[in-house]
Amino acid sequence: MTMRNLAWTLSAHPEPGELIGKRHFALVEQSVPSLGAGQILVRIIALGTSPAQRAYTSAAPAMHPKVPLGAVMRGRGVGVVLQSNDSAFRPDDIVEAALGWQEFAVLTPSLAGDGILRVAKLANPLRPLTRHLGVLGGTGATAWFGLFEVGQAKPAETVVISAAAGGVGSIAVQLAKRRGCRVIGIVGSEAKARWITSVLGANAAIDYKRDDVAQRLRELCPDGIDVYFDNVGGALLDIALTNLALHARVVICGFIATAQGELIAGPRHYPNLLRKRARMEGFFVMDYLKRWDEAHKPLRAWLDEGAFDPAEDVEQGLERMPDALASLFTGGNCGIKLCRVAADP
Ligand SMILES: NC(=O)c1ccc[n+]([C@@H]2O[C@H](COP(=O)([O-])OP(=O)(O)OC[C@H]3O[C@@H](n4cnc5c(N)ncnc54)[C@H](OP(=O)(O)O)[C@@H]3O)[C@@H](O)[C@H]2O)c1
Repeated sequence: MTMRNLAWTLSAHPEPGELIGKRHFALVEQSVPSLGAGQILVRIIALGTSPAQRAYTSAAPAMHPKVPLGAVMRGRGVGVVLQSNDSAFRPDDIVEAALGWQEFAVLTPSLAGDGILRVAKLANPLRPLTRHLGVLGGTGATAWFGLFEVGQAKPAETVVISAAAGGVGSIAVQLAKRRGCRVIGIVGSEAKARWITSVLGANAAIDYKRDDVAQRLRELCPDGIDVYFDNVGGALLDIALTNLALHARVVICGFIATAQGELIAGPRHYPNLLRKRARMEGFFVMDYLKRWDEAHKPLRAWLDEGAFDPAEDVEQGLERMPDALASLFTGGNCGIKLCRVAADP
């Protein structure tokens, strides 16, 4: 019997500056192809979102391969193996992989490599499985290696995090607090400011849509910022550069403020990097893939103890994927934006 698969395919490239959304995708019904040699069939349980997904769809230069028009939209997810022609996988195994925005995926793990297309079998999966897309997935690893490897955050230092109520940001806030840092989060609403201070433990929040950010940073960081964990870029990065501590580290994690393809001038206040003998460094979480366990082991222990907020913001249904992705650019998400496609097995 032919199995039917519902999938979102890319139907149009977003223009520079255009908010990505449903109009760029088509929800189509396809039949699931029969399995070839070395292939596995996976039922998708949940899908993750990332600002990088917008870059997959646009014509602008990007780090990752583009999704061609008409192809199933690429995105990582967790799923359960239903059938396997690969001896390394069995039915009921749980995998985390580039499953795509669809209900079922046919993958060839041996050809997937160990980059953004890798197929990872989860040895001891935690329920709900969404955790493996969030705290125990790339989001958790990004916050960990950005903060501790690139940012070298140390106890008693002042750490400022932009998009602090987002996926990476909400984990970075909690990690920096656990390390004994003073943590200030920059967010886009009063509700997010309350959440990061009262639930995630940040010492203070700045609402960049209402507050004078430069003035608030001067008040809250009188000795300057030791680590600026930047998820946003643009004008906020420029302001943060005006208030660096001596030997500050500016961690370039992301640049969502300019990720919709607009070209902007570089930061005007970069001479402060010299004045403060500071360092500004970008990083890519996949470069740390072999070390992800260093982050995930303690994070899992804290989750098990109930001592770490998984900070998940979960939409229900594959139909929600374009809106879920759009929410990253409008600030509609609070925590790690995910989409549940089917119940945990
Ligand atoms: N370097 C790496 O290897 C790596 C890996 C993964 C992710 N990233 C980057 O990490 C960042 C966070 O990713 P995520 O998936 O966790 O997304 P996210 O932070 O959950 O979502 C993005 C958030 O950015 C804020 N935002 C959107 N437009 C903004 C603007 N113009 N100015 C200021 N804030 C804005 C919104 O919150 P507000 O309501 O607060 O505005 C939104 O919730 C992204 O830049 C992403 O590209 C990097």
